This record gives sequence, C-alpha cells and structure tokens, in this order.
Amino acid sequence: MGQRIAIVSAVHEELAEILALMPDEQRTTAGGRDYWQGHLQGHEVTAVLAGIGKVAAATTATALIERFRPDQLIFTGVAGGVAYGVEVGDIVVGTAFLQHDLDASPLFPRWEVPGRGRSRMEPDRALTQVLHEAAKDAVTWLPKLLDADTLRLFGLHTPSVHQGEIVTGDRFVATSAESETLRTALPTALAVDMESAAVAQVCADYGVPFAVVRTISDRADDEAHTDFQHFLQQVARHYSGRIVRKALNLL
Ligand code: ADE
Repeated sequence: MGQRIAIVSAVHEELAEILALMPDEQRTTAGGRDYWQGHLQGHEVTAVLAGIGKVAAATTATALIERFRPDQLIFTGVAGGVAYGVEVGDIVVGTAFLQHDLDASPLFPRWEVPGRGRSRMEPDRALTQVLHEAAKDAVTWLPKLLDADTLRLFGLHTPSVHQGEIVTGDRFVATSAESETLRTALPTALAVDMESAAVAQVCADYGVPFAVVRTISDRADDEAHTDFQHFLQQVARHYSGRIVRKALNLL
C-alpha cells in the first residue's frame, strides 16, 4: 500500500529531478514555502523546498508535518565532505546528526540539545537502510546519466557510498582550516551540511520516521564555494532523482 512520503531539500537543484518525475504535481504555497503534492512509485508524495540553514529547515519540517502528516520523511541534498576519503561525488547516508555550532555550555555539555540530554539524533533504521540500497544503486547509473566531460571534471569514476555521522551548522564551511577544526573536534563526522540535524530534531519531537541522504558536492575546503556551485548546477539533480525514485520503489 502506498504511503505518504515527504521529500525535503534545501535548494531547487536538489529537488528538480524529483518534481520532473511527478507529472501530476500540484503546487501550494504557505509560510513562504512551496509544497508540491503528487504521486511517485505508488506513494503520495509531498515535496518541499526548505531553504538553507537550521531555522528554515526546522520551520519547514514543522509546517510540513502539521499540514501534510507524512508517514515518513526523506531529506535529500548535498553536503561537504569532512572525513578523509569522503570525496566529491560520494554519497553519505546519515546514521547520526549533531549540531556542530550548538553550545550552551556551561549549562549543558557542548553540542548537547538542551532538554534532550543528548547531542546526537538518530534516523529511522529501516528507512536509512532503504536509502543506503538506493544510493548504491544510483552510483552504478551515473556513467549513463552524465556525459564523459562532466564525469571527468568532477572525477566521478567510482563514487563510494558511506554511512555515518553528518554534522549540521549555520555556516557554509569553506576553508581548509575550518574543516580541519571540525575533523579534530568531531572525529566521527563524515560530512557537514546546514539542515539535517535540525530536521532530525523536529522529526524526533513529532515521532516521524526520517532519514537523510547527501551527495558530496565539495570538500568543505578553500575550493568549496566553486565546487559546490558547479556540482549543484551540473550533477546534484541526477543523484537525488535516482536515489529517491529507487528508494520509493523499495518502500
Ligand atoms: N553543503 C554543501 N557543502 C557544504 C559546506 N561546505 N558546508 C556546509 N554545508 C554544505
């Protein structure tokens, strides 16, 4: 039986292919967000653009859950690679989410979400497993989806799929020094983004199963800014479209 699935992305390039796959979609706008409702792989899908950053992500997730009551929520988009070996074009499926810029010390330990007694939020295991399967499938399709020049430009010959921690903050990490600081402070972090841990917290509050899949657009280093923009324009949509379509097929 089809479920009500919410698909959330930060920016349009990450959602474009998914919308293209939903020919019957209807758009509504509320609270400054566009919601597209339609069908994909037998499920009722609501896709929404959250915008960038933790506040935008949290308010969008809250409004989405209150208004559309999804059974499950998938966040798909791009992230910066933090751990060594997490390269541009790889995919990271999140297994824990932490706000790297949250610090209410000395009232609470650094990174702890006040009132929660924990720093890390966890996704739904079964949905995460589905995204992992879908991501492994997507990387095998890339050579067919992208032309040889694009593959060469981004060095996308054998992308890997990783599972692990994603850290979130209201900063685009765009220097090698800052990336090194993150690696030292949070050695288990695979990737950095600006939304996942915020959505994770809202989904935990509402008891909505959720999972996150992120494609690495840059290495969160001195070249991050240009790598991010090129990847977003030329590659991101192919990944998210493939991954989400396959995931919905498996659900
Ligand atoms: N999303 C994609 N790349 C990022 C970076 N370098 N920092 C934060 N969020 C990102």
